[in-house]
Amino acid sequence: MTSELLQKARDFEARYGPFIPDDQRPVFHMTPTIGWMNDPNAFSVYKGEYHLFYQYHPYANKWGDMHWGHVKTRDFIRWERLPAALAPDMPYDKDGCFSGSAVELPDGRQLLMYTGVRQVREENGEVHDFQTQCMAIGDGRDYEKYEGNPVITVKDLPKGGSPHDFRDPKIWREGETYYAVVGNRPADGSGSVLLYESMDGLHWKFDGVLAACHNQYGLMWECPDFFPLDGKHVLLVSPQEMIPIGLEFHAGNGTLCSIGEYDRKRHHQIRENVQAVDYGLDFYAPQTLMTEDGRRVMIAWMQNWETANCQPSNIRYFGEMTVPRELKIRNGRLIQNPVRELERYRGYQVVYKNVMLSGMTTLQNVKGRVLDMTVNVRPAAEKGSYTCFKINVARDGEHYVTVRYKPEINTVRIDRSHSGFPHDIISVRDFLVRPRQGEIKLRLILDRHSLELFVNDGEQAATSMIYTDVSADAISFEAEGRVIMDVEKYDLIVDKGE
Ligand code: FRU
Repeated sequence: MTSELLQKARDFEARYGPFIPDDQRPVFHMTPTIGWMNDPNAFSVYKGEYHLFYQYHPYANKWGDMHWGHVKTRDFIRWERLPAALAPDMPYDKDGCFSGSAVELPDGRQLLMYTGVRQVREENGEVHDFQTQCMAIGDGRDYEKYEGNPVITVKDLPKGGSPHDFRDPKIWREGETYYAVVGNRPADGSGSVLLYESMDGLHWKFDGVLAACHNQYGLMWECPDFFPLDGKHVLLVSPQEMIPIGLEFHAGNGTLCSIGEYDRKRHHQIRENVQAVDYGLDFYAPQTLMTEDGRRVMIAWMQNWETANCQPSNIRYFGEMTVPRELKIRNGRLIQNPVRELERYRGYQVVYKNVMLSGMTTLQNVKGRVLDMTVNVRPAAEKGSYTCFKINVARDGEHYVTVRYKPEINTVRIDRSHSGFPHDIISVRDFLVRPRQGEIKLRLILDRHSLELFVNDGEQAATSMIYTDVSADAISFEAEGRVIMDVEKYDLIVDKGE
């Protein structure tokens, strides 16, 4: 049965969602129907389609009582809107249906697992969240909350675990058994990931601590995901309150990928390598699914909490998801590239080969704000023939967003300081790339107000929102010294009418 609160959200989105003009939305990045969106939730395969839910506050462009919004897609590029799936309408989730995940049950129904938040005012006046894990079951459109909720509570925590920071279950099935990882804050105040198991997806028991932060990488670990990939086991988490580590991790909310082995007996991940997931400005709370053809695909909120409240005015929604990315492991590192489905939407092509560049140039027909462009750069002669290479996109007389490579220090920078955004938000990020004798390959995906950069065939990704007016669509290239470059650019054309 649809509760009054959920019906209200559905009526609201049906009434106001359609009035957001298409040109205020990106062309192929997923956005909420109306209002606020943060984390991707329950990114999963259900009856042959990919479903995506999201943290949702339909009534305003600000974070508020968390609902779950809902869309689905067949190709990760064109999204079909569905009515809101969950509202905070039960005593155990009255202060929010926080992030979670989904699996398809053997009987064909879809099982959602999420965090129910209930706030309690203590005697001293302080208000605390109590977070528990809850289930809802449905048919891909309508969901009933399970009558046995909550299913994982404070009594299922290991000693010292916090009931206030206990959230974001990611569920999966292996054979007959269901597993879930949940973020928690142990007694040392930092983050950990707890592992639970269940035979029916409804009754759970605690297995052990899969991984712990020990105050090394931020504090609370939000939104865990754990999966096998290319012979390793990968743990993704989104730590809060990070302290910078070199150019790998920046301060604040970050994303962390831990690659290692899985000791099943001890329910523990043995960490071999730790890295950031995305090196840009706007990327948080990634979640993955496994496609039917065996690809591990990740999507994330294309925002960050520090700047999410600085928004362009007069738009009735806020928040975009990244383009879904295929993951691999190469040489012990995470490799990510846009899903191959994106290539089906490549339209008008422009190719330049062996362009000698010294100083600044533009190239005829290389412009636009919805495109997929790959630029290969190499020294014009001996190694060291250039010290700096730049691509400026979203350019007009006044504005530009820069991707810069300095071969001597092997550093790429994205810089949106001149994107025209009238707020003093963080706008520059530098990161190290693997040295390749001055050669670098940069793939830029633009979709109106976003830039996603993939370096050296996915060795690194860096993502940034850019609020520059879409009329700023020029692109220029610049070299200090001499380079040779190849440019291959496609417009991306997605007909939403079909
Ligand atoms: C991460 C997060 C989650 C939580 C949700 C609330 O961005 O803080 O931990 O479930 O957002 O909207």
